[in-house]
Amino acid sequence: MNILGIESTAHTFGVGIITDQGKVLANVKDSYTSKDAGMILDEVSAHHKMVAEDILTQALKTAKLNWDHVDVISYSAGPGLDPCLWVGYHFAKDLAEKYHKKLVGVNHCVAHLSIGKVYNKLKDPCYLYVSGVNTQIIVFEEGKYRIIGETLDIGLGNLLDKFGRTIGLGFPAGQVIEKLAKKGNYVELPYTVKGMDMSFSGILTKCQQLYERKEANQEDLCFSIQETCFAMLAEVVERAMAHTGKQELLLVGGVGANTRFCEMLDLMCKERGAIFHKVPMDLAGDQGAMIAWEGFLRKDSYGDVEVIPHWRTDEV
Ligand code: ATP
Ligand code: FE2
Repeated sequence: MNILGIESTAHTFGVGIITDQGKVLANVKDSYTSKDAGMILDEVSAHHKMVAEDILTQALKTAKLNWDHVDVISYSAGPGLDPCLWVGYHFAKDLAEKYHKKLVGVNHCVAHLSIGKVYNKLKDPCYLYVSGVNTQIIVFEEGKYRIIGETLDIGLGNLLDKFGRTIGLGFPAGQVIEKLAKKGNYVELPYTVKGMDMSFSGILTKCQQLYERKEANQEDLCFSIQETCFAMLAEVVERAMAHTGKQELLLVGGVGANTRFCEMLDLMCKERGAIFHKVPMDLAGDQGAMIAWEGFLRKDSYGDVEVIPHWRTDEV
């Protein structure tokens, strides 16, 4: 069985094709970009409409398949930006009607988790999902994903990007911050862990103050943001693994590209006899293959759900 998945929750429009064994046959995408880092919703959805047909054609060509070989069409129903979600939904629905395929709406965030799980052949990991918007510790229990810890304010990626904007690093800033951090020394920042949750907005304010008052330089702040935030997350994840007895950790989301972050999580796992896993770059960002795989997993329980812009992982 082959599943075709359509992603359109935010900047990226993607079409992926995957087999029922989790083998990716195609994963083609195109992302909206703008020079000033702003995102005009009408422009993003116009971008998706414009590229959709071409991306689809490329995906089928790459997979060397025609419609006879596609069994299910899945799409990202949410969470995401409303106008972008509708573009993906209408595109998917039209194809499903035209070619008489089953249509399955899936949750974008859960798709990030599922593709990482199948890629790494994991049994029952503790998930750490750290992107721009999301910072969550998730486990699967009694047939449902449960968020057992999360940020109380902004996501860690957002913190990095907002701080990056303050000091003129451009957007997104995570990768540049990682580079600058290599030359930095430690300055004390608020370490805010509350039970299983954490807060990042105080760190942003403190860093902005230190920078404006010239009390710390870019490199020191980049180094210290990383060390503080990564340590906060490593602490909470370690506790989550101890409580739940999970022996595998899976890191997903864009911040997972950070080498220092992975190093700290890997060390924490080794110390407790657990194994750390991440996802390769081509499956880490937003793309259609993960939507296709989640569509395969949900094909008997979900169908046409239109769009669900605020669909939380623990509601799936
Ligand atoms: P989602 O909708 O899944 O929550 P998103 O669009 O918010 O996704 P991702 O694409 O998963 O986010 O990740 C983007 C974030 O990753 C940005 O905030 C960016 O700064 C951060 N990032 C990218 N590379 C690095 C890096 N090397 N170190 C730290 N952060 C990074
Ligand atoms: Fe995403």
